[in-house]
This record gives sequence, structure tokens and C-alpha cells, in this order.
Amino acid sequence: MTGNEIREKFLKFFEEKQHLMLPSASLIPQDDPTLLIIGAGMAPFKPFFTGKMKPPSPRITTCQKCVRTGDIENVGRTARHHTFFEMLGNWSFGDYFKEGAIEMSWDLLTRVIGIDPARLVVTAHESDDEAAAIWRKVAGKEAIRLGKDNWWSAGDTGPCGPCSEIFYDFGEDVPGGMPGTPDEDGGRFVEIWNDVFMQYDRDANGNLTPLPNKNVDTGAGLERWAAMLQGKFDNYDTDLFVNLKRAVSDVTGVAETPENR
Ligand code: SER
Repeated sequence: MTGNEIREKFLKFFEEKQHLMLPSASLIPQDDPTLLIIGAGMAPFKPFFTGKMKPPSPRITTCQKCVRTGDIENVGRTARHHTFFEMLGNWSFGDYFKEGAIEMSWDLLTRVIGIDPARLVVTAHESDDEAAAIWRKVAGKEAIRLGKDNWWSAGDTGPCGPCSEIFYDFGEDVPGGMPGTPDEDGGRFVEIWNDVFMQYDRDANGNLTPLPNKNVDTGAGLERWAAMLQGKFDNYDTDLFVNLKRAVSDVTGVAETPENR
């Protein structure tokens, strides 16, 4: 499946489930002094979570242009981090919650896309028995329970909540351990989707106030899905990059080598 096909399949799946498909917002945040650049699909929707604005639909899906400054030191050192990347996502604003989000993620990955369930590992926040029980029911999976890695917020303040991540196992030839182990960043298990259960608003002192609604915010890296579905370990070897790299080589007359890639 090409990158374009994956993007389309994801958005169509959620459109068929009554999500309004919106175009990506600009990379430059509008009216948000807490962010320099958009780093997640949910960032343009913060006023919908806090209740400041009414969303055009209780269900939305997008493919959002992102630059994630928090991960920028990893770019060029791993097969899966980028400066610019595209994040696929689905949102519920006071509509479905944990069960709906987990069921749809699992259905899209295993039935529609056809990923072998044995290659998927899931996590849940250490406090979130509800998400763990849903994973058992929906997928027959025992979620690995994590602390701060399973709590998500877009910045120091604002909407946040426990999350549940889905990892793809690139196989035993790739070094690296399971999520939550000392070797988790090795590269064998790559996070391909994050389901965040947005329930709280965090203030500058770290106090959590329940949001007016229980919401869902999910994020799936298009480039990581391309690697997973094209049998490539390295995102930069997928069709989303090879043509660009070829064009750069043509223009510069410099061929790609293991040293300069
Ligand atoms: N906001 C979460 C993330 O970026 C899920 O979309 O991982």
C-alpha cells in the first residue's frame, strides 16, 4: 500500500463511521500562545476539548501536518523520527469514549488493513483498569501498564488524559525490547498509534480539572504505517521518501550512501 493509499484508507474508514473529514490545519498555530508549531493532530482542536468552541461535528478525522519539537534530537538517529511528518487521527468530542476508540483502532488495523494481531502490543496507563479491560474484551490482549508514557498532553498546560498506545513488532531481527523495558527505544517495537482519553484540563500548577466532556484524541504516524505496510524497517525507505531522495540525488548529482543518508 502506498502512503497515499494508507492516508485515504484511514480517512475513509472513519468517514464511514460518521466522522467529518477536515483538511489539515496550517503548521502555524492560530490563536494559541502555548505552541510554536503544530505538533499533533489534536492541537488545532484544543478549543473544542475545553468547550471554548463548538466542533462542527462530534466526530472528526484528519491527516495533520506536524513538526514535533520534543522529538527533534532523535531525527537522523532513528528509523522512525522526522522533522515534518503527517499524523492521521480520529476525534470524539463528548461522543464515543474508550470502548469506541479501542474497538475502531483494532478493527482498522487487524480486519481492514490486515495486520497480524500477534505483531501488535498494547499499553494502558497504570491507573486505567477500564482501558485494560476493554483491550482484553476487544482483542484478547493484556495491556502493558505504564506511567508517564501513557499520559498525554499537548504542552505543559491544557487538555490531557491517560492514553493507550499500540506498538508494531518489526521482528526479532531488529534489536530492542518491549514497551516499558530498559531497551524499549531499540526500534523493534514501534508505536504506531496512540489513543488518548482526553478528560482533564491541566493548569500551570499541575492541577487537573475535568473537561466538560469525555473526549478521544488519536494519532497515527503515516510514515510509520508506511514502513509497517511496505515491509521496510526504515521510514525513509518508504515510497513517501524514495522519490524525494531520488530527486535530490538527480539535482545534486550525489548518490545516496549509508554514510550520507
Ligand atoms: N495527541 C496524541 C499524540 O500526538 C494522540 O493523537 O500522540
